[in-house]
Amino acid sequence: MKVVSIVGARPQLVKLGAVARAFAGTEHAHRVVHTGQHYDPELSDVFFSEFGIPEPDFHLGVGSGSHGAQTGAMLAALDPILEEEHPDWVLVYGDTNSTIAGALSAVKQHLPVAHLEAGLRSFNRRMPEEHNRVLTDHCADLLLAPTEEAMRHLANEGLAERAVRVGDVMVDVCFNTRDAVLARGGERPVSLEGIDTDAPYLVATLHRAENTDDPERLSGLIKALADLPVPVALLVHPRLRAKADQHGLKIETGSIVDCRPLPYAELVAAVLGSTGVVTDSGGLQKEAYLLGRPCTTLRTETEWVETLHDDWNVLVPHPDRMPAEEWRTTAARPIPSAPTGAPYGSGRAGYEVLKVLEEHLR
Ligand code: UD1
Repeated sequence: MKVVSIVGARPQLVKLGAVARAFAGTEHAHRVVHTGQHYDPELSDVFFSEFGIPEPDFHLGVGSGSHGAQTGAMLAALDPILEEEHPDWVLVYGDTNSTIAGALSAVKQHLPVAHLEAGLRSFNRRMPEEHNRVLTDHCADLLLAPTEEAMRHLANEGLAERAVRVGDVMVDVCFNTRDAVLARGGERPVSLEGIDTDAPYLVATLHRAENTDDPERLSGLIKALADLPVPVALLVHPRLRAKADQHGLKIETGSIVDCRPLPYAELVAAVLGSTGVVTDSGGLQKEAYLLGRPCTTLRTETEWVETLHDDWNVLVPHPDRMPAEEWRTTAARPIPSAPTGAPYGSGRAGYEVLKVLEEHLR
């Protein structure tokens, strides 16, 4: 079996880590195409070395741009590669512009497409990720869903026959990394400059277009983080940095410590060492849950609804409009006493993906 994985943005490289590990040592051919959507070393290269993923077989070097320009450039560059490779499966991951470009290029060449992390829905049509995931699900041949909830969404859209629940590959990566971090001596992160990791602190990220692109919205969110009662290690994504600069907003104010994005093991160590997480990232909401830290999500909805039980994850779309004390006690709340459960599987989803691809070969 020959599979071409198409990736391009940070979270896809984490998921690729689990899939590449499952492929390693098998007789299957696994080729990797990197679209170049993310190109800063800390958003891209670091994951290849960290997870031991072989260098991509093809690098499209597409870079940043408007949605149309970026997606279109990927499509044009992918066509000849997929034509030449002619794989048994094109595997696309998650919900970025690299996902929809990969799925479209493949489906138009009648190549079978499998979508990993199928069936997630926010039902918020203003999110670019929502367009990407809905359109990808509807054009893919095989829908690899992480959860029962995702399976229900696919069934509601008439896609049940193409859907298989495989679990969540992020669990594989998160648990492996957690075990390695704990084995090498503990939870204290080494690269959170400016944070006393022996005292309580929060880990935060902010990168969604709906939170960063409007200056008023971004300024309100920065102010809310700055007002928190403990230091906030804000791992600044390049999009946040670019938008803050563009709008003339200072990031390091009040409780905020301006930190760089972290390699995966450092991120896991940072969350383990923290008292909680504040984020708009889907991946980090789940990582907080898997690592047993409470999460406050700066959005009106979440695709990862399983994290919401017992206040493990709390949605706060407008912290700047909440009474200050309520915001502070919510974001800095203690670890819930209720157990988390295992809605995302046991950490072997990468192997399950491989098995399901084999079973569904045309
Ligand atoms: C993309 C995905 C989002 C995902 C996120 C993970 C889409 C529509 N969005 O958002 O779903 O959650 O990745 O990080 O696909 N930039 C750099 N260096 C880089 C990459 C980007 O400086 O290596 C800056 C550029 O200013 C660029 C901006 O970040 O314009 C946005 O990058 P882009 O890839 O368009 O979207 P993300 O916000 O990263």
